[in-house]
Amino acid sequence: MAKAQRRYVCQSCGATTQKWQGRCDGCGEWNAVSEEIPLDAGTPKGLGGKRGRVIPLTSLQVRSDDAPRLVSGIAEFDRATGGGLVPGSALLIGGDPGIGKSTLLLQVAGRLSNSGANCIYISGEEAVAQVGMRAERLGIDGSRISFGTETNVRDVLTTLDDVKSVDVVIIDSIQTMFVDGIESAPGTVSQVRSSAQELIRFAKRRGIVMMLVGHVTKDGQIAGPRVLEHMVDTVLYFEGERGHQFRILRAHKNRFGGTDEIGVFEMTGHGLEEVANPSALFLSNRSEEASGSVVFAGIEGTRPLLVEIQALVAPSPAANPRRAVVGWDSGRLAMVLAVLDARCGLGLAGSDVYLNVAGGLRIKDPAADLAVAVALISSLAGKPVPANTAVFGELSLSGEVRPVTRSNARLGEVEKLGFARAYIPAHSKTKRRGIELAEIDRVQDLLDIFELSSHPAGSTGKAN
Ligand code: TYD
Ligand code: MG
Repeated sequence: MAKAQRRYVCQSCGATTQKWQGRCDGCGEWNAVSEEIPLDAGTPKGLGGKRGRVIPLTSLQVRSDDAPRLVSGIAEFDRATGGGLVPGSALLIGGDPGIGKSTLLLQVAGRLSNSGANCIYISGEEAVAQVGMRAERLGIDGSRISFGTETNVRDVLTTLDDVKSVDVVIIDSIQTMFVDGIESAPGTVSQVRSSAQELIRFAKRRGIVMMLVGHVTKDGQIAGPRVLEHMVDTVLYFEGERGHQFRILRAHKNRFGGTDEIGVFEMTGHGLEEVANPSALFLSNRSEEASGSVVFAGIEGTRPLLVEIQALVAPSPAANPRRAVVGWDSGRLAMVLAVLDARCGLGLAGSDVYLNVAGGLRIKDPAADLAVAVALISSLAGKPVPANTAVFGELSLSGEVRPVTRSNARLGEVEKLGFARAYIPAHSKTKRRGIELAEIDRVQDLLDIFELSSHPAGSTGKAN
């Protein structure tokens, strides 16, 4: 008989190896590999001669009798899911602990059950009293949601099988669930994967919506939901900086809608509130006179979004100047700094540089390059960006400013929020509109706007 083989599984990405490693070869995560005993140890034998069951084959024609999407009425949530929940699908909602996943799903369940859907909330983390108190605080009619505390997947499925009618099941969280036939502890990759597999299979068979909450942890002890990403139909991430009240629900994968669609929420004393006009919110409390602050006209998902980008450039006393970035890619900042150094001779190599995207938003849009360059130059020159100006554009390594996608949508939002002027890439295809458009051809053109000349390293520190 084959000896049960040890195997080591990365708790972050699920890669398996024969021996323990400090760093996973698959995803590069440190201290994430741990031992797991496989259930089906031994060599696979192939199918053999036994015949299987014949599966029914159908055409791909869409049947109109398919159940319609479940729309929660929370517009920001419905937008992120691509227009509502699809019966017979599985969703994963990931996010740091304490970001508001349970709050969001309880609110969604509350709204769905108000419109007649049968929602079952299974918590492996919190007791009835705790969730009841939260529901009261959120103003949700607790009597309409069926609630249960359980961590054994077998018991959860037996319970669900017994219920006559169910539309939506929420599992909070998948890391607390376990399948009793598997020896590893709840939260390990094998348990998370098997639990999710059983729950998803049930959802597909019964045509219900299965929403799984997944924690993202950095230390690798608990399986990150990454291993689940390819098992579910939709992956939503709930993001936000802990200290800020803004929360962004972002679709990373969606078999039933667009990805990178976002929903914006604000965490208040009465739960999450929708933010219908995020640009106005992200720009509130902005002081126009400060140097180094600029309004970036970005696109998040399908929506234009204006956000403030702040930069501070100061001469550094240290041999290795500090580069601190919040809300943007630090590699991208290094690139913009290098372009400014090489093409404008600004000598930023000897300066500390801090960059911050206000409001706790994380920007991925490459069109932020020009806005960042403007913020840096404004801080270096000690001159504020001309009032009522918004900026977008991508930088190439040669210092050229490149046109970006969806210029008209960006400018529409800029105009809507009452801006007078926009710095945009030259050769952008834009419609005529009521704002002044300053076309920037090369990054060097910005020096004239801020009356800055090329100067050696760290000779100005007028940033305020
Ligand atoms: P929670 O939904 O428990 O987060 P998760 O399930 O992602 O771990 O939310 C936790 C935080 O939200 C908690 O720190 C308190 C805050 N909160 C509010 O600010 N207002 C509210 O109405 C609620 C319910 C929570
Ligand atoms: Mg929770």
